[in-house]
Amino acid sequence: MKTKSGTNKPWGGRFTEKTAQAAETFSASIHFDKRLYRYDIAGSRVHAKMLAKTGLLSPSELELILKGLSEIESEIENHAFVFRDELEDIHMNIEKALVEKVGQAGEKLHTARSRNDQVALDMRLYLRDVCRNLIDLISDLQKGFVSLARKYLGACMPGYTHLQRAQPVLLSHHLLAYYEMFARDKDRLGDCLKRINVLPLGSGALAGTSLPIDREFVARELGFSRVSANSMDAVSDRDFMVEFLAACSLIQVHLSRFSEELVLWTSQEFNFVEIADRFCTGSSIMPQKKNPDMPELVRGKSGRVVGNLMALLTMLKGLPLTYNRDLQEDKEPVFDTVDTVSQSLAVVVELLSGLSFNRDVLERATEKGFMTATDLAEYLVRKNVPFRQAHAVVGGAVAYCLVNGKELTDLTLPELQEFSDSIAEDVFEVLRIEGSINSRRTQGGTANTSVLQALEKAETDLGI
Ligand code: ARG
Repeated sequence: MKTKSGTNKPWGGRFTEKTAQAAETFSASIHFDKRLYRYDIAGSRVHAKMLAKTGLLSPSELELILKGLSEIESEIENHAFVFRDELEDIHMNIEKALVEKVGQAGEKLHTARSRNDQVALDMRLYLRDVCRNLIDLISDLQKGFVSLARKYLGACMPGYTHLQRAQPVLLSHHLLAYYEMFARDKDRLGDCLKRINVLPLGSGALAGTSLPIDREFVARELGFSRVSANSMDAVSDRDFMVEFLAACSLIQVHLSRFSEELVLWTSQEFNFVEIADRFCTGSSIMPQKKNPDMPELVRGKSGRVVGNLMALLTMLKGLPLTYNRDLQEDKEPVFDTVDTVSQSLAVVVELLSGLSFNRDVLERATEKGFMTATDLAEYLVRKNVPFRQAHAVVGGAVAYCLVNGKELTDLTLPELQEFSDSIAEDVFEVLRIEGSINSRRTQGGTANTSVLQALEKAETDLGI
């Protein structure tokens, strides 16, 4: 049957005019959704097998379709495929190429399928792979933190609150804090995967199909753990992308917090750590400069990752059910986040292997700032002084030190006893940095024994 159409689009039957050039350029998504080609083809292969299974395709038609799809796939891989803007998106580019290759059999591929369930399928297949890759990258990053924690075991440094010296800690304890943050990030991606791994195909445009299909077969073949329960939900649901972008925002924010520490710590003011030259840049005018551009960029890129999450939420906010073309705007934020977060993770993984901490500077930094004041208060508590009174006593001693230019460790026993007669000779052990650190033996604390335990557990969990 021949139809007369004003446009050469696959959907052009009812149209009397060609699409305006401005509309075509404005609405085309092929320049970004072509990255989905492999998933689109994987989905089409299984869809075709299913159609053959239920009798909607003959075995020879199936064979032609599978052959055509494989050819298209290798053409795309070899950059020999010509993507056409007027065919809008990856789905129609591939379908049209198939029809041109295998004729009528190709025209049957879109049976019992809509681009609405097809695009949802492609994005789920794509994000499933992405999540698994990101989880692996984060494990590499955790290994980096763990090996630094192992290498610098025993090194002391100031722990900060409000960026003021607070209490002495082990550098390894500080590094393992990042191990924990990234463990939660992996968990979040794993959780997100559960909701990604649901098959939307078979939902049709929005209401299902009257043709005989086998969704369970398609789900099994594509490795989905279940099929979606409501066709209207399945074609308009983008929750899984929001969750993914939220999980990625946290990853980037965690990377950014670490980057901020590197920027601070590599400054002359801190001088805690050195970044290998291969990750730094110089200045075009100041010959002495060595700048921490990589951590700065990782920190800077958190803006776009968080922005992509906001873009998607805002796009979804006013959408009625079911599919609306607005949903095409889901892809660029997702792709940009995938690229940004994977590159940031990869660069920080390498950066970690090129860090050298200045042990002496770190240790010397613990000597100033009354960092064992809390230890002295807790010492008094053990001597039965109520904590609030102990706090006030130590506050008095600190004020005395400030006036006299001393540290708590400089005070003699008689000087200390001026503040409380509960203080005895054994006080000096708690005023020492190592004594302070090793007294924090609680689970999750900074004592050598606790940190070693945490480190060993992390190594076991990572299979090191
Ligand atoms: N390019 C479209 C998208 O990304 C594919 C689905 C188009 N569906 C439609 N009914 N126009 O959302």
